[in-house]
Amino acid sequence: MEQMLIVEGGARISGCCRVHRAKNAVLPILAASLLCDSKVVLPDLPDLSDLAVTKQLLSELKMGVTEQCRDLILSPDDLAYSRLDEKLTAKLRASTLFLGPMLARFGKVTFGGSGGCAIGKRPIDLHLYGLAKLGAQIKQEGNAITLSAETGLKGADIRLRYPSVGATENILMAASLAKGRTALSGGAAEPEVLDLVRFLNRCGAKIETDGAGNYQILGQKRLHGCCFFVMPDRIEAATYLAAAAATGGEILLTFDGELALPLIGELFEIMGCRVLSAKGGLALVQRGRLSAPRRLTTLPYPGFPTDLQAVFTTLCTLAKGQTVIRETVFEERFSHLSQLQKMGAEITVCGREAVIFGVKELFGTEITIPDLRAGGGLLVAALAARGESRLSALSYVDRGYDQLYEQLSLCGARIKKMRCEDGKGTSRPDDPCRV
Ligand code: EPZ
Repeated sequence: MEQMLIVEGGARISGCCRVHRAKNAVLPILAASLLCDSKVVLPDLPDLSDLAVTKQLLSELKMGVTEQCRDLILSPDDLAYSRLDEKLTAKLRASTLFLGPMLARFGKVTFGGSGGCAIGKRPIDLHLYGLAKLGAQIKQEGNAITLSAETGLKGADIRLRYPSVGATENILMAASLAKGRTALSGGAAEPEVLDLVRFLNRCGAKIETDGAGNYQILGQKRLHGCCFFVMPDRIEAATYLAAAAATGGEILLTFDGELALPLIGELFEIMGCRVLSAKGGLALVQRGRLSAPRRLTTLPYPGFPTDLQAVFTTLCTLAKGQTVIRETVFEERFSHLSQLQKMGAEITVCGREAVIFGVKELFGTEITIPDLRAGGGLLVAALAARGESRLSALSYVDRGYDQLYEQLSLCGARIKKMRCEDGKGTSRPDDPCRV
């Protein structure tokens, strides 16, 4: 049953939150486990619906999937090819990440199409281009694409015309088991891609990178499993920082590993926040009104991440001054703006640019969450707004944030989760969903 979030805005966020391991690093690593011929152990994973679907996809391929609390053990002993269930692949974009590993491991893969948040067209031409360069034959029948490489994959020189994260990951995974050397240039350099490289190398792959999207891969005959601690989630971390920044609060984040947020820390400082960082921790303090950063343009790493556009858009609606936000990565990632306008934000949209004049206050209202990261941004807006907001379509948020409401509640947020029995968020007095 759908649930609704009731947020009584205006409470200062003050406290400590734990940052989970990064969804966008875990998903490719789960797909990469298909390349290994012995156990993969991934401790302390977040509880997210996108991970649950990916584990189901692995189970369909007879991967042994054992969960002990938050630890995941993947046993590939009985791994066997089967066609991926289209109902499952249609649930998330990251199902495309099965193309490279399945091709490398089974010599074939049939794929009925992926889903995920509706933030743009999201073609897979670059994935197919890279895999074709490695020797895959590609056939399209209706909506299904079959890739095959009966005599195995062969290393190649591949240059991507755009640094697609998913295409880079697929090429890295497939090339790790290809015969010979692959040189990939123009690839993505997002921290999550580099975490995948660290995982593959721990499994016996030979991948070198300059950290700027260029990779040299020496294909191996086999990869073995390993125990790997995935990096912390920089997008989740920045969402908590934004919640404190928007409400004039203070927050301490704790995490295991390195949080890849240097430019974002600077951006919070430009907007007037104090950011203090130490090993395993990051703190933000905000007093008074935020200042507009003037211009933000989303770009592939190391540029400003599209996944943080929505939370920073919210901050800019409250900041003193004008900001122009340009979204260059996904063509339909402005769907949260109409919801912010309903809350009193002054925003003019012109194609891929949004011009925002900061207002002193937002006002609580009915909000429909259009996609995962927009959900993060709109929740931050609701926390800062005067009065009550009712947020629906929470399932988007469950894709990528674990314990978000619970942790924010412990930091002073006034949040209630209710069953949405009549579409209006009616709750019973003893509602167990209260957080
Ligand atoms: C990854 O998506 C992330 N998802 C996204 O996070 C993130 O927003 C995105 O990278 C950019 O950082 C995962 O890691 C699971 P892309 P991905 O391929 O791999 C175009 C979130 O909310 N393109 O770099 O799908 C594409 O249309 C999600 O956590 C092609 O034209 O991103 C888009 O405009 C959402 N052809 C741009 O490249 C292709 O073959 C970037 O896409 C592939 C992509």
